[in-house]
Amino acid sequence: MTCNLVVLASGRGSNLKAILNAIEEGKINANVKLVLSNKKNAGALEIAKNKGIKAKFFDPSFFETRRGYDIYISEIIKKENPDLVVLAGYMRILSDEFIDTFEGKLVNIHPSLIPAFQGIKAQKQALEYGAKITGATVHFVTKELDNGPIIIQGVVPILPDDTEESLSKRILEIEHRIYPQAIKWFCDKRLKIEGRKVIVEGAKYGSLPINPSLEDF
Ligand code: GAR
Repeated sequence: MTCNLVVLASGRGSNLKAILNAIEEGKINANVKLVLSNKKNAGALEIAKNKGIKAKFFDPSFFETRRGYDIYISEIIKKENPDLVVLAGYMRILSDEFIDTFEGKLVNIHPSLIPAFQGIKAQKQALEYGAKITGATVHFVTKELDNGPIIIQGVVPILPDDTEESLSKRILEIEHRIYPQAIKWFCDKRLKIEGRKVIVEGAKYGSLPINPSLEDF
C-alpha cells in the first residue's frame, strides 16, 4: 500500500526534494499529500507547488501560543491520514501535544551525530567544538529535542579548512541519501521501536560511514 506522507519544512527544501526524487524514481512507495510550512517564503513550498503537491503556509504569529498553532496544524495534518509525518528542516520546537498526536510516526533529520550537537546550528557547533567527525541522523521524534530513537546515521569528517558552509554542504549530501532510506524502511514496515533502539528488520550493519548500511534502491 502507498505510504501517505506529510512533510513539514521551514527552509529551502533540499531534503524534501531528495525524498520526492526517490518517490519519482519508484524507490519509495509513497505519496507526499501535503507540505506545510511556518515560513511564507520557504523554498520547500515552491518545490511542492511545482510538483502539483498541496503546499500550505500557516503563520504562527496568528496564534497566541505554540500549543494553539500546533493543535491547528495537527488537525490539518490528520485530514491527510498520514502514515508518517516528516520533519525536513522544520525549525520550530513542537509542543508535547503535537508529539503525542503523531507518536511513532513522526521523524526528523538532524545535521549531527546525535546526541552530539543538538539544537540549532549543529554544523557550527561541531566545528567550534573541534570535533574531527560529525554527520547526520534520522530519528523518531520524542519530547526531548533532537534526541529520539535513532533510525540511521551517516558520518562526515571535519576537515582542517572547513567552514560552516563547506561542512553543511558535505553533511547535506549524506542527509539526501539517509532520509529517503529511512522513509523507505518505515513505509516497508521494517522499523520497530524498542525503547531507545530502532530495529531495522533485515538491515546490514558494520560498514561505515553509514549505519545501518544503505540499500541499493
Ligand atoms: C538540514 O541540514 C537539516 O538537517 C536541518 O536543516 C536543514 C534543512 O535543509 N535541520 C535541523 O537543523 C533540525 N534541527 P533543507 O531545507 O534544504 O532540507
